[in-house]
Amino acid sequence: MRFITAGESHGPGLTAVIEGYPALVEVEQEQINRELQRRQKGYGRGGRMKVEKDEVIFISGIRKGRTLGSPITIQIKNRDWANWAAVMSPLADVNGRREKDGETRVRIEADQRLTTVQSEVTAPRPGHADLSGALKYGFSDLRNVLERASARETAVRVGVGAFAKILLARFGVFIGSHVLQIGRVCGGEPRVLSAREQQVVDETLFRCSDPAANQEMKKEVDLAAKQGESLGGIFTVYATGVVPGLGSHVHWDRRLDGLLAQAIISIPGIKGLEFGLGFVGAGMPGSAVHDPIYYTPERGYYRKTNHAGGLEGGMTNGEPLMIKVAMKPIPTLYNGLPTVDLCSGQQVTAAVERSDLTAVPAAAVVAEAMVAWVLADAYLQKFGGDSLPEIHAAWQRYTEMIKWRPENA
Ligand SMILES: Cc1cc2nc3c(=O)[nH]c(=O)nc-3n(C[C@H](O)[C@H](O)[C@H](O)COP(=O)(O)O)c2cc1C
Repeated sequence: MRFITAGESHGPGLTAVIEGYPALVEVEQEQINRELQRRQKGYGRGGRMKVEKDEVIFISGIRKGRTLGSPITIQIKNRDWANWAAVMSPLADVNGRREKDGETRVRIEADQRLTTVQSEVTAPRPGHADLSGALKYGFSDLRNVLERASARETAVRVGVGAFAKILLARFGVFIGSHVLQIGRVCGGEPRVLSAREQQVVDETLFRCSDPAANQEMKKEVDLAAKQGESLGGIFTVYATGVVPGLGSHVHWDRRLDGLLAQAIISIPGIKGLEFGLGFVGAGMPGSAVHDPIYYTPERGYYRKTNHAGGLEGGMTNGEPLMIKVAMKPIPTLYNGLPTVDLCSGQQVTAAVERSDLTAVPAAAVVAEAMVAWVLADAYLQKFGGDSLPEIHAAWQRYTEMIKWRPENA
């Protein structure tokens, strides 16, 4: 499977095309929308999330509630587009007159108040794609970079990930996440939550499993807001019910740990990740790190610990996937950092685009989508077929085969 996304942050909308998704999978818009809404929550989000209420539109690849095996196209409209039509118009000629770059200053209604938007941005924000993108493409207007580099794109990734989750659920795989740290405040342990616990956590301010920590995190964000600061944090993403043997020890580019790392690091703002014990394990003796192997006829092979985080030798080992992920503080600061104006060459203060103070709870939902995508693709590679029943049959054969019996030994 593969997917491609398109769309600018303040353009008409976001589109994704998914290729290779099997036929005969039942998909409802509501299932996708639930995931989109999970990404929009979290205390500390900016005005944009109040404007947008993301909803998926099915364009192709689905008929009468079931996938066809043909490319699936989904779209999410940007409600804010109406306010940005002049700034983001693809036409050289807007309203009968040719706009010079930087000439357009529109007033848009967001957060129930009027805001002035600068059409052309020439002061790159440290921590963003602005400067590198401008140098790479030879742009002087940074809006040509920032509109696409914006994490708004992750909305449609979550839509794509929802398709992956729907497929994985047919094989008993569940993916969830929760926040462990916002700024300096920590709460909860990296562990698998029950479905009920996950639902409860999703409704909390920061998607953190520790109620007291949620309140402390709120104080931390309120303080950051007063100081014109932004915050990062840490979350855990997990997957349960995953069969052993996904990925490969044979080739570097088929190792599942590598594929998961690439997918998660590709999320804007994500700067580090650990599988299982990760960095802590590096300082411990091997006997305390590696997970002894046990067997019972009922459970098959199992471990009493999961320090490896469900991956050994680039393959799943049948234990839950446990990944811890670090997100840097949001780079747009209301007290802008020093930068250089690309047109004047003068030292100035970085531009401010409407921004979140922290987006760790939302990033965790995006990471779920990326993990779901990589796992769904791994299932299709191992049990591949054109339709769900065909894939299901191969999966059932495999799960029987890997049970230890004398004739299988
Ligand atoms: C869900 C989500 C929301 C984000 N919201 C913002 C935001 O409002 N303002 C901002 O400056 N950065 C935001 N970011 C982070 C930036 O997009 C990111 O730091 C930037 O594109 C540079 O990429 P890099 O940090 O991966 O180098 C967000 C990231 C995610 C995952």
